[in-house]
Amino acid sequence: MQAQAKKRLAAQAALDYLEDDMTIGVGTGSTVGEFIGALRERRISLRGAVSSSKATSALLRAAGIPEVELNDVGDLPLYVDGADEATIHGSLIKGGGAALTREKIVAAASARFVCIIDDSKLVDVLGRFALPVEVIPMARSYVARRLVGMGGQPVWREGAVTDNGNEILDVHNLRILDPAELETRIDQIAGVVTVGLFARRGADELIVAGDDGVRRISP
Ligand code: A5P
Repeated sequence: MQAQAKKRLAAQAALDYLEDDMTIGVGTGSTVGEFIGALRERRISLRGAVSSSKATSALLRAAGIPEVELNDVGDLPLYVDGADEATIHGSLIKGGGAALTREKIVAAASARFVCIIDDSKLVDVLGRFALPVEVIPMARSYVARRLVGMGGQPVWREGAVTDNGNEILDVHNLRILDPAELETRIDQIAGVVTVGLFARRGADELIVAGDDGVRRISP
C-alpha cells in the first residue's frame, strides 16, 4: 500500500474519537490533510477547529469548518495531528512542515492527543529524521553552535520562514535515547522558540496504518 493510502486509513480511524458538536485542535501536514478530507466527505459537523498553521487554516476554510481562536475557547478535548517519527511510548519528532510551535501549543492545550501516522514513521529510537528546531533569526548561528556541542549536526533550512516569522534548523545525527531530557535541554538554549521533540507532552494515542490495516497504541 502506498504511504498516502496508509495516511488516509490512519486519518479515517481518527474520526472515531469525535463527538457531536466538538471543538478540536487540528495539526498540519499531508496526513492531517486526509483527516480534513474525511471530515468533509463524511459531512461531520464540528463546532469549530483550532488550527496549527496557515496551511491548515486554508484547508479548514475549503472544507467549510469554522476556525476558532485558541484564546477564545480555552482547553480542547481533542487534538489530531501527524508526526515525522514516533515511538510506541508516544514520543514524537514533529516540524517537518515547520509548524511545530503552534502544533506544540495546541497539543499542550488539549486533553487528548491522537497522532495519526503510517507505519514507516514508527521507530525504536528517534533521530533518523532530522530534528527541527525553530529559532529566532538572529540566534540561528548561536543555537547551531550549541546544538553541535550536544553532538548534533544542524543544517539551516534555507528559505523556510515559519508562520511566526522564524527560521528552522534541522539537526542530523542525533540518536535520541531520552527524548524528554533532550527536549528540556534544547528548550533552554537562548533563541530557541520550539524544539520539534514532543515527549513531555507526547501522543496519548497512536494510530498506525500499515498494509494489514490500522493498529492503535495507547502509550
Ligand atoms: C508539521 O510541522 C509536522 O509536524 C507534521 O505533523 C509532520 O511533518 C507530518 O507530516 P505528514 O503528515 O505530511 O507526513
